[in-house]
Amino acid sequence: MKKVIVFVLFLSLAFIFTGCQGPVNDFGKCTVTCSSFGIMPDGQTAKLFTLTNKNGMTVKITNYGAIVTHIIVPDAKGDMADVALGHDNVNDYIKGHPYFGAIVGRYGNRIAKGKFTLDGKQYTLATNNDANHLHGGEKGFDKVIWDAAAFADDFGAGVRFSYLSKDMEEGYPGNLNCSVRYTLTNNNELKLDYEATTDKATVVNLTHHSYFNLAGQGTGDILSHEIMIDADYFTPVDEGLIPTGIESVKGTPMDFTKSTAIGKRVDDDYQQLIFGKGYDHNWIINNADGSMKLAARVTEPTSGRIMEVYTTEPGIQFYCGNFLDGTNIGKGNKVYKHRYGFCLETQHFPDSPNQKDFPSVVLRPGQLYRHSTIYKFLTK
Ligand code: BGC
Repeated sequence: MKKVIVFVLFLSLAFIFTGCQGPVNDFGKCTVTCSSFGIMPDGQTAKLFTLTNKNGMTVKITNYGAIVTHIIVPDAKGDMADVALGHDNVNDYIKGHPYFGAIVGRYGNRIAKGKFTLDGKQYTLATNNDANHLHGGEKGFDKVIWDAAAFADDFGAGVRFSYLSKDMEEGYPGNLNCSVRYTLTNNNELKLDYEATTDKATVVNLTHHSYFNLAGQGTGDILSHEIMIDADYFTPVDEGLIPTGIESVKGTPMDFTKSTAIGKRVDDDYQQLIFGKGYDHNWIINNADGSMKLAARVTEPTSGRIMEVYTTEPGIQFYCGNFLDGTNIGKGNKVYKHRYGFCLETQHFPDSPNQKDFPSVVLRPGQLYRHSTIYKFLTK
């Protein structure tokens, strides 16, 4: 009895100490636990949520930036590996990183010259990517603490993160109330459900920025991974990676309608690949109509791991880690060199606020911004 009381006391203290709101959820074999991810310079404790499903798949997510820090999945033989690039503690993220695993907002991707006009009024945003605005500005949604509530339901176990982005934060109009609900299911899916509402007209484009390496994080480059993207068209860009229109992928190294190794054509003498320093483009998902569609499938031949990406969004940015250069030292002191990870960011198209032919990213009071994406892990 004494032992039980001591244990309960220990658990309560652990929750108070880490700032986690207990109790731990448990649904069937899906569980959520919460621990400390380190004390931030301002004294706040960052939380780390660990989701586990009945297959032993584990996903860890912190409330700093709603960042997915670990995705541990089996290979074809059942051996587990962490397939997400990231850091071991919150302070390593705070030191700076290229959006590893983060929720990116208020506007993921680029806005030309950091300017857009909405209802006749011009707004000016940070130009934090040469002449352009990237990923929400100086302090985007990847660098804020989100409120977090762990849950378990019939579908799986997860965490709902919410954040109020105040009117004119980073130059964007309107108080934006947003949430991202991550769910780990027993089908080895990590599902993201995004929602947002505003009190003034604004632009919104939330996305998720995990860098994957299906052979295991930090083990090598991703050039032998094979990728299929269900897209007949993409948005070609200028040197600043701002779209210049819509083009067919046919007959170009951008054609991934048939599964092809990332490294096969990445260094081809093709203007778009020169501008992007490799693949760093938005593909237009075929037949996107707001329902959940398979957008991409990636296969890693050695481990037999496969990842499928399903989304309700019209576009997907495929970025193959061209700017990784070995200066980011990640989990377990792994060095993230050139092209050691790839991203598949489901989204609306880059620079949509300035491109009248692209699907609209305007959100008005009374409207609900909503989309969902699934990263599903399988083996051959
Ligand atoms: C962009 C890249 C950028 C990377 C990290 C991607 O979404 O397309 O150009 O380097 O994010 O910031």
